[in-house]
Amino acid sequence: MYSIPRYPVDLIDVLAVGSARVTVRPTLPQDIELQRVFFRGLSPRARNNRFLTPMSELPATLVESFANIDYSRHLALLAEVFEDGREHMIGEARYVVDTCDPAVCEFAVAVADNWQGLGLGGFLLARLEEQAAKGSVNRMTAETLTVNRAMQRLAHRAGYSVLASAADPTHTRLEKSLTNQVTAVDPPLSTRSESAT
Ligand SMILES: CC(C)(COP(=O)(O)OP(=O)(O)OC[C@H]1O[C@@H](n2cnc3c(N)ncnc32)[C@H](O)[C@@H]1OP(=O)(O)O)[C@@H](O)C(=O)NCCC(=O)NCCS
Repeated sequence: MYSIPRYPVDLIDVLAVGSARVTVRPTLPQDIELQRVFFRGLSPRARNNRFLTPMSELPATLVESFANIDYSRHLALLAEVFEDGREHMIGEARYVVDTCDPAVCEFAVAVADNWQGLGLGGFLLARLEEQAAKGSVNRMTAETLTVNRAMQRLAHRAGYSVLASAADPTHTRLEKSLTNQVTAVDPPLSTRSESAT
């Protein structure tokens, strides 16, 4: 039987980022076009860092997976601003719980190039952790490119171990235990006023 997961309205936030109001909310299946435009708009470097491989368009398999989230085993948050009455997606963060080990999930974050460095990535990651910890997850993991200093810095600041991969020196593993964690989600630094336009 087909079932529609309950939309987690408690995960909706409105934040001050620089001088802008940013809405963070769980994605909906109909957000796919918004997500396509967002990923297309990322710089090739950011896209490469996000997917660990050069990619110009979201492949059909990812589109299908992005449209089929259940907000528990697969949670995706998007950040958006409204300009001229239209939504513009400026960030996303998601985790997917490991099908073999429900105590572990893999996450990824991406922020539009001209919105980076304002605290949004850190906020989205903390929100994911908070939600993951409420479910079965007690370990957050991610694979990142070793050259991706921004992600490693964000992860290190958020309490992750940054581990070299023995098998592939171009990849680095990020891991954090959520056991006994008290997650406090601070709003992005609105005082960093070099705001994106
Ligand atoms: C990694 C990423 C998500 C960080 O998002 P963000 O919104 O810039 O993160 P924050 O503003 O919370 O900053 C996190 C840290 O990274 C630093 N940082 C941000 N952009 C940086 C850059 N281009 N180079 C070096 N450090 C950078 C910030 O200074 C901050 O460190 P600090 O608190 O010690 O000063 C963002 O750079 C991004 O989307 N990159 C492309 C996709 C990607 O790499 N995804 C990771 C896949 S797991």
